Amino acid sequence: MTASTTDRAALVSAIAAAHAAERGPLLPVLHDVMAELGHIAREDVETVAAALNLSVAEVHGVVSFYRDFRTEPPAAHTVALCRGEACQAVGAQALYDATCARAGSLGDDVEVEEVFCLGNCALGPSGTVDGRLHGRLSADRLDALTRDWR
Ligand code: FES
Repeated sequence: MTASTTDRAALVSAIAAAHAAERGPLLPVLHDVMAELGHIAREDVETVAAALNLSVAEVHGVVSFYRDFRTEPPAAHTVALCRGEACQAVGAQALYDATCARAGSLGDDVEVEEVFCLGNCALGPSGTVDGRLHGRLSADRLDALTRDWR
């Protein structure tokens, strides 16, 4: 989603206001900003800090601590490969390395992420392709799943 700076600030302010009376509103606010805007921009941190009467450093600290909070817009497509122990035991490392090595061939706007257990351990190597869970992944299966991106 794209929003002008003014629209974005107004939306972030409205999200913060909706949670301001809750106990511990910061995480719900940040989750809602992520859901609405796809990432938490620098100016969003300042807006949230002002709305919740927190310092910019406090809000930035939370945003930078949790890897699920993005500070840059997401790529058009995402491949997230599990690096958890069960998946590592069935070839996740090699799949991850191979996928990173050929990330450019998957498409122009593709991000390869690592995750640590998707709850699909029995069917590893596991991963998600644009948010959809897949098990028993291989380089060939990833090629097939991402064919339309090229
Ligand atoms: S370790 Fe990969 S899904 Fe659990």
